[in-house]
Amino acid sequence: MIEVKNVTKSFEGKTVLHDVSADFYTGKTNLIIGQSGSGKTVLMKSLVGLLRPEQGQILFDGRDILQMKPGEMKELRKEIGMLFQGSALFDSETVLGNVMFPLMMFTSMSYAEQRDRAMFCIERVNLGGSENKYPSELSGGMQKRAAIARAISLNPKYLFCDEPNSGLDPRTSILIDDLLSDITHEYGITTVINTHDMNSVLGIGENIIFLNKGHREWVGDMHKIFSATNQALNDFVFATDLFQEVKEYIVRNGHTAHGSARRNKDNYEI
Ligand SMILES: Nc1ncnc2c1ncn2[C@@H]1O[C@H](COP(=O)(O)OP(=O)(O)O)[C@@H](O)[C@H]1O
Ligand SMILES: [Mg+2]
Repeated sequence: MIEVKNVTKSFEGKTVLHDVSADFYTGKTNLIIGQSGSGKTVLMKSLVGLLRPEQGQILFDGRDILQMKPGEMKELRKEIGMLFQGSALFDSETVLGNVMFPLMMFTSMSYAEQRDRAMFCIERVNLGGSENKYPSELSGGMQKRAAIARAISLNPKYLFCDEPNSGLDPRTSILIDDLLSDITHEYGITTVINTHDMNSVLGIGENIIFLNKGHREWVGDMHKIFSATNQALNDFVFATDLFQEVKEYIVRNGHTAHGSARRNKDNYEI
């Protein structure tokens, strides 16, 4: 579990995170949602130690990263997987080379062990057979899956994904969401996902933190979001006529079948 307590972050006198508190749970898909510019990326970068807030605590299973010495932070980093905007794969390396990279950097595994572990992750994201391809030979969804395989190669306790669906079509986005959700449950990872994609919110939002102009304004889940009274949240989530209609329908009929109706778990072919 990750606990964020009263975190404030400013840039040149402009505060972009105002006294933010949030809990991210183990084995759950925790979503940070909010409009562009609301502070999602700054919060996530603060969580992984790329930015340093002026105030507050960030506890990884009780360990405050803001109090850590560089050596301790380095150890914690080994427990963290990251999936940043775009897939950030190395163009000159194959899928296998990309997924083996963290294992080469951070473990004392033999080449054969690295290869076995990398192939396990590649197969887990359904990219078996594409391990010798280069990123330029892959579709956007496949690149994203390769990046996920790389992010889980070190068997992380914590996984951070900044807008994992950006640039993907809706169907591919759902498959990526389902993959992230399945991995989270299967391996008991504390997964934090930044998104402004409503399909993700309604599909995998087990714990949702809503940021509005750097303030944490609402916490809930995909079921509670339909009865939320926060105006900014409603304006954000149900911005389009379509989502407004979906909301009205669900308020009338209940929100039960959504997850299972959209899923085709056996098919990650994207
Ligand atoms: N390195 C930086 N220097 C100055 N301002 C920044 C920096 N990074 C982000 N900001 C500002 O912080 C605010 C939140 O940005 P960000 O976290 O990227 O939003 P989001 O990810 O929700 O779209 C924005 O106003 C942005 O301009
Ligand atoms: Mg962002």
